[in-house]
Amino acid sequence: MQSIYNYSNMRYYLSLFIVVHFCAIAIYAIPNYAGLPPGPYCASRFNNGKCCPGRHDDCSAPILQTTCYCDEFCNRTREEDCCPDYWSHCHGITLTTPSPDFEEFRRCTFRGKYYNHGQTFKLNCNVCKCSSIGQRADVLCEENRCLIDQDLLSSLYLESERLGWTATNYSDLWGRTLDEGIKLKLGTLDPAKSIHNMNPVRRIYDPEALPREFDSRSRWPRDISGVKDQGWCGASWAISTADVASDRFALMSKGSEDVDLSPQHLISCNVRGQLGCSGGYLDRAWHFVRKFGLVDEECYPWSGKNDKCKLRRKTNLENAGCRAPKNPLRTELYKVGPAYRLGNETDIMQEILTSGPVQATMRVYQDFFTYQSGIYKHSTLTANYPSGYHSVRILGWGEELQGNYQPTKYWLVANSWGRNWGENGLFKIVKGTNECEIETYVLGIWAKTM
Ligand SMILES: *[C@@H]1O[C@H](CO)[C@@H](O)[C@H](O)[C@H]1NC(C)=O
Ligand SMILES: *[C@@H]1O[C@H](CO)[C@@H](O)[C@H](O)[C@H]1NC(C)=O
Ligand SMILES: *[C@@H]1O[C@H](CO)[C@@H](O)[C@H](O)[C@H]1NC(C)=O
Repeated sequence: MQSIYNYSNMRYYLSLFIVVHFCAIAIYAIPNYAGLPPGPYCASRFNNGKCCPGRHDDCSAPILQTTCYCDEFCNRTREEDCCPDYWSHCHGITLTTPSPDFEEFRRCTFRGKYYNHGQTFKLNCNVCKCSSIGQRADVLCEENRCLIDQDLLSSLYLESERLGWTATNYSDLWGRTLDEGIKLKLGTLDPAKSIHNMNPVRRIYDPEALPREFDSRSRWPRDISGVKDQGWCGASWAISTADVASDRFALMSKGSEDVDLSPQHLISCNVRGQLGCSGGYLDRAWHFVRKFGLVDEECYPWSGKNDKCKLRRKTNLENAGCRAPKNPLRTELYKVGPAYRLGNETDIMQEILTSGPVQATMRVYQDFFTYQSGIYKHSTLTANYPSGYHSVRILGWGEELQGNYQPTKYWLVANSWGRNWGENGLFKIVKGTNECEIETYVLGIWAKTM
């Protein structure tokens, strides 16, 4: 959590404030002869834009019974001794309804609200500040792209029917930048490199015999892990790994080892070449589970931080300080065999049908964060903004009629953004077309049960 605040502070201080909005009328802090007749005073003595630099007492013009000035010094004093046409004639600045109250000049109006000089406020994910620079007051805002972008959301609402899914505004995502979302809500590094050296499996099956719908939660009601919440920690690599492994332990042991393995164990202890809450590689995660094994959630509870590993070189559950497992035969940590790749749509289905949920990595575009329900398909509106990789758990598949078209095939997938996101923490995504590359990086695993 700490790092997020540092990060946004840094953005706040370092980012070049740029002007996004001028006050409806630019206000200049200019003393003036309020109520004096307008007229060509400086204009009668000096050429356009060529009044006097610095202080020149003789750089003046008569006005009523006295003198007004056309030198630059008159702009520094708060005495009202500049000629009424000093600004327009000498500087080409047109005054609009100047106010006699000096503080007024140092105030900004923004969307119907007043802000004083130096005052800051937040506009979605950006910090804005009212600054009077020189002699005008403007609202200056950071220019980050926000995770929930108002314009994008409006377009998604309008396009919802065509897209086949509905978007919503999540209040815990509102006020964050897209960069923060990509860094801290996802967290899977370079899947192409990671999956490259994993072996594909060959399965003999009849693709025609695969059911049109399947949900591993209905098939194995007591064995499938629930939905986790990674919070603001880029840990999808660790959560999807621990959850797929947990599911496989429960299924392959026929319930005698229905364990909830600890993703925090990976975050804190699988640190070699990994970045904890800033992301991790799946091949390194699986290698760690294969070589050292994991403990359960109760033994190494979730903190969502890059804590120091408290289980170094512990090989059995007892010396790791864990509670005795349900199965008395289990003494060592939970280990798995080598992860394997699933090459195409039907291979993935066959794997889920016979062995349970699989791990998949998808490319996440900005619109995905706003998904609420329906069958997700990424909108071209977000194609030009940053995206990132995210690992999830495919639980099954199905088909749904949308309008009068052919039924749309989808994958049923568990995300790790809590149960309030999407459809109780799950989402559906178009199946069979490698939507968001979700069919490219799919992995299965064998659990080493007792
Ligand atoms: C006011 O005068 C200073 C020099 O005395 C000059 O640098 C500055 O630009 C002037 N301000 C305006 C708004 O002309
Ligand atoms: C989204 O929700 C936040 C907080 O709940 C709210 O302040 C904001 O105005 C909402 N934005 C939109 C576009 O609805
Ligand atoms: C998927 O790959 C398997 C071989 O692993 C092959 O038998 C099957 O026809 C392929 N399915 C599709 C839809 O390409």
